[in-house]
Amino acid sequence: MAVTRGEFSSRFGFVMAASGSAVGLGNIWGFPTQAASNGGAAFLLVYLILAFTLAYPALMAELIIGRHAHANAVSALRLVSPNRLIGNIGALAGIAGLIVASLILSFYAIVAGWMIAFFLSSIADLLGMEKLSLWLVSFSTWRNLLFMLIFMTLNIGVISAGVQGGIERWSARLMPVLLTTLALLVVYVLTLDGAMEGLRVYLLPDFSQILSPRLIINALGSAFFSLSLGVGTMLIYGSYIKDEENLPLVGGMVTVLDILIAVLAGFLVLPAMYVALHSGVEIFTESGSLISEDTLIFTVLPELFATMGITGIIVSLTFFFLMSIAAVTSSISMLEVPVAYAIEEHGIDRKLTTVAVGCTIAAISACILLNFDSLFGAVITLTTRYSQPLLGFVFCIYAGWVWRRDLLLQELRKGNPDISEGLFWKIWPWYVKLVCPVIILAIFAQSIWG
Ligand code: TRP
Repeated sequence: MAVTRGEFSSRFGFVMAASGSAVGLGNIWGFPTQAASNGGAAFLLVYLILAFTLAYPALMAELIIGRHAHANAVSALRLVSPNRLIGNIGALAGIAGLIVASLILSFYAIVAGWMIAFFLSSIADLLGMEKLSLWLVSFSTWRNLLFMLIFMTLNIGVISAGVQGGIERWSARLMPVLLTTLALLVVYVLTLDGAMEGLRVYLLPDFSQILSPRLIINALGSAFFSLSLGVGTMLIYGSYIKDEENLPLVGGMVTVLDILIAVLAGFLVLPAMYVALHSGVEIFTESGSLISEDTLIFTVLPELFATMGITGIIVSLTFFFLMSIAAVTSSISMLEVPVAYAIEEHGIDRKLTTVAVGCTIAAISACILLNFDSLFGAVITLTTRYSQPLLGFVFCIYAGWVWRRDLLLQELRKGNPDISEGLFWKIWPWYVKLVCPVIILAIFAQSIWG
């Protein structure tokens, strides 16, 4: 089916859009919370190792396959396959990715809705509307439903606008502001009482925990989630990159930026937890585990902002605004997965598809909200801890074993004629073929039987 495909207009635009996808709630809500509940520095260390040694190579597999095929994951995996059977298995994996992306969006929209509610609550504070402000920050089904719907509507709006107008323009503007705000907040939090205790937890590893299977599998899930891997998102973003682009380089830039922001967010959230603890907020249960992981940052950050007096309202407003935007630039990359598939495989109109898929996901989100206690955590675990790494494994197998090596090299040469002389070509192909799949499987085996 011939459709005009969108393309990113510049390297900066792509790096911003791909980092816009990567940087989101995973960095600022997911990673610090996981670090806080999995032993702080031990988690940080394992996360860093896995992000560079497994997630980056897996990201490259998606980007390269995507750019080669200039198509969604289903057609792309078919295209690199030598025969029908392997092609169909690839297509099935692509469809599984599309379902996982939709499920991820269904819980992501809930948390993103909280960000918007907290942002509006700061505005209500500024206007002296205390009751409204309180309602906005209190956990209730109505509030959750309303803001999930508002968030999904924003998403549908951006995605219907397409690649350059929607995805690229938004990401390029807001990412730099997010980075600066985070850095300033970190500097501030470190001046407060209790912050050093948090810093210690974040930076001094307890080596006895590093080999815990639970910690390793959580860190793997976290790294894959943070880089938007294993559902075909990065494959699609790769498909919108120009042929002249040097892929290993731009992939590396995205990885470094993403990890940097997660680590930076840790420097904010862990100290902020101990600052809150210091001023009497209960964070841990008697047994030492976190009281509520999902809403941790929604407890400790407002506490932190409250220490700043009236300035705190402005800071809170800026912070939650940026988080809402970061959530939009990430979630549009999830919605793009099923949408690109429907447009390219079935020739359906972009606007129509976006609305239909968006509404379906909003309905799933509503089901999760109405059964919050039993479904929310379960969907997160199923998608991020299991499905993403397993599908990432499949992408590595297709890049390493299924795709012909000469064609792969040809693809890489497009943006970088001398690549066969460089380190990337000497290491990555066998690495993604052998090391990545084996380690991913080993981590799984250990977490199941270990
Ligand atoms: N990486 C994003 C974050 O850290 C979330 C995200 C965007 C994502 N697209 C994805 C996660 C696709 C998994 C799959 O918030």
